[in-house]
Amino acid sequence: MDVTTAILRRRSIRRWEARPVEREKIEKVLEAGRRAPSWGNTQPWRFIVLEEKTQIETVGKASGGQPHVTTAPVLIVCCGAVNDLSRSQHRQALKELRDMGVMDWTDDFLDNVVLKSDLFAPYLLGEEMMKVRVGEQVVIAISYMTLEAVNQGLGTCWVGAINAREVQKALGLPADIFVHSLLPLGYPAEDPKPRPRRDMNRIVFWGGYRKI
Ligand SMILES: Cc1cc2nc3c(=O)[nH]c(=O)nc-3n(C[C@H](O)[C@H](O)[C@H](O)COP(=O)(O)O)c2cc1C
Repeated sequence: MDVTTAILRRRSIRRWEARPVEREKIEKVLEAGRRAPSWGNTQPWRFIVLEEKTQIETVGKASGGQPHVTTAPVLIVCCGAVNDLSRSQHRQALKELRDMGVMDWTDDFLDNVVLKSDLFAPYLLGEEMMKVRVGEQVVIAISYMTLEAVNQGLGTCWVGAINAREVQKALGLPADIFVHSLLPLGYPAEDPKPRPRRDMNRIVFWGGYRKI
């Protein structure tokens, strides 16, 4: 399936067939997340894959009991790892890129220019800002996974309405990992029409913004 087709076919799916999802397909979806771009290639995402009904129901309760979460055959708990944007981890990721020739930075430039610039190094802006940046990267990975799911004949529904602390507690996650979103995954038992989108001329401004 080409990317355009996957984008156009994707819908939020809220009804699932009872059949389980093959491990191979789940792995393809996860691989799409792994392949997503990220800030300095820091890849600050973690995906916890749940297939046990009782575990899914427990975590689903933290989404206000949304039925498409509690009844999903697979639930991917999409998390962020704030420490991946710490100075040392960020440096390591950038150094790896540099060493493979992506940039021609010297160690001095990396340490004294890049990692001392609050434009390039989120750790200089504090934990809250690091968390925001990490969240952005998790979002990119989730977007990729939703599209690969379509390619695998599967459906997803991005679920952001969650009590993240409750999920954190239920899964016993350490403090440096935060829960960002849930991604229920399964064979769709519905084929919904495309949901409305704003007209192109309300969201795109060629050559400069104009108030409409
Ligand atoms: C960040 C985010 C959070 C969302 N949270 C929920 C949610 O908690 N429950 C739900 O049923 N749908 C949720 N959705 C799905 C949206 O309602 C859906 O994407 C939107 O209505 C457009 O429909 P479509 O995905 O079928 O195009 C969320 C989507 C995004 C991107």
